[in-house]
Amino acid sequence: MSWRDYWNADTPIYVSERHKILHYGLIARDIASHVPGPDAVVLDHGCGEALSADRVAASCRRLILCDGAPLVRERLAARFAAEPKIEVIAPEQAGRLEDHSVDLVVANSLLQYLAPEEFHDLLGLWHSKLKEGGRLVLGDVIPHETGPLDDVAALLRFAWSGGFTVAAAKGLVRTALSDYRQLRAELGLTHYGEAEMLSLLAERGFEARRADRNIGHNQKRMTFVGTAG
Ligand SMILES: C[S@@+](CC[C@H](N)C(=O)[O-])C[C@H]1O[C@@H](n2cnc3c(N)ncnc32)[C@H](O)[C@@H]1O
Repeated sequence: MSWRDYWNADTPIYVSERHKILHYGLIARDIASHVPGPDAVVLDHGCGEALSADRVAASCRRLILCDGAPLVRERLAARFAAEPKIEVIAPEQAGRLEDHSVDLVVANSLLQYLAPEEFHDLLGLWHSKLKEGGRLVLGDVIPHETGPLDDVAALLRFAWSGGFTVAAAKGLVRTALSDYRQLRAELGLTHYGEAEMLSLLAERGFEARRADRNIGHNQKRMTFVGTAG
């Protein structure tokens, strides 16, 4: 199984419905904080189920949700069928977006599932679709020195504040016995150092910095903001 196949099914990553709802609420709030203004065109690449994408759509003119998993896209299309600002596309269709037409590209919690070459190609794609001065936000990037125990600690803190601690404890046991743990051990996740990411972004034409806060609940991970030159 590859990461791509893994995401094309229900996963045990979310320990309960409450966890999933709180997670996507937080992600939407954080993405909306990067939207430059009400007229912006936003591409969320690797958006996942994006349960609260309507909150992001409320802050921009057009929201393009792109995900590699057909099942995820089907659910998104059904959920947001009545939301005229939101469209759902496959990664192949992202290449067909008009060049220099996007104000903000967000990829949150995506890079760890991509080989470095895929990420390199995506940087080129995103740069070509962004307007000059447009922003690329890469969230939840895993630094080299962190591992599964850091993720467990972050999840437990999130669960405590969100009132789903019991579900989190049970979910951690389920995850430990699941394909996710096996795949994480077999395929691994791609990690990046801060300086390494800044230099990759500079090579591809972005003036970049690390943001003060990561998108989402895990503050051991990093968010980078690049401006397309
Ligand atoms: C961990 S989820 C992240 C979802 C969401 N961005 C979030 O922050 O919760 C990763 C998502 O990326 C999608 N994905 C993986 N590889 C992709 C690719 N090459 N292009 C587009 N989507 C991809 C998966 O289908 C999955 O829905």
